[in-house]
Amino acid sequence: MNVQIEDASIRLLDVLYEIELQCFKEEAFSKQQIGYLLSDYASISLVARVNGEIAGFIIGRIDLVRGQPVGHVMTIDVLPVYRKSGVAQRLMLALEDLLKQSDMRECHLEVRVGNVSALSLYLKLGYKRVRVLENYYGDSHGFYLKKNLS
Ligand SMILES: CC(C)(COP(=O)(O)OP(=O)(O)OC[C@H]1O[C@@H](n2cnc3c(N)ncnc32)[C@H](O)[C@@H]1OP(=O)(O)O)[C@@H](O)C(=O)NCCC(=O)NCCS
Repeated sequence: MNVQIEDASIRLLDVLYEIELQCFKEEAFSKQQIGYLLSDYASISLVARVNGEIAGFIIGRIDLVRGQPVGHVMTIDVLPVYRKSGVAQRLMLALEDLLKQSDMRECHLEVRVGNVSALSLYLKLGYKRVRVLENYYGDSHGFYLKKNLS
């Protein structure tokens, strides 16, 4: 599959929000939240296109953790029809490359404990479980993961 990674922008808000709704149920970001993330100067937003169509996207951000700037994956979404073809892996690696170019040495993220596909993706890419986040998703727990980028 020919996957192209491009910068995202606020002009894609409608289509990215539709993808977010297809990928998440109760914990989907609102349209306003996605708009905020797309326009935040500390965010890095990328889309994956397959044959010109947006198949998925990722939004990361540079956050401060104990005074140190680190990369933080805010959301990664791939449309069901394009899954299991390496799209998410391409988006993650492209984000990590940009974080490294910004001298970030770590990337952090949260994932629902039962989200097998996302957790497998992150473990495959070298993320390590740091701790359990009790009731992070309301009634279910999350894992806090991190990866050294250097
Ligand atoms: C999680 C998600 C982004 C994965 O997207 P994807 O494009 O299908 O992932 P990839 O094809 O790049 O898969 C890369 C690796 O992830 C893991 N993986 C992906 N889907 C998986 C599944 N259904 N079951 C088990 N492992 C899976 C595998 O390790 C895979 O490597 P492999 O193909 O060598 O086995 C996608 O399922 C999705 O959008 N889910 C809904 C939104 C979501 O949960 N986002 C993450 C929030 S933390």
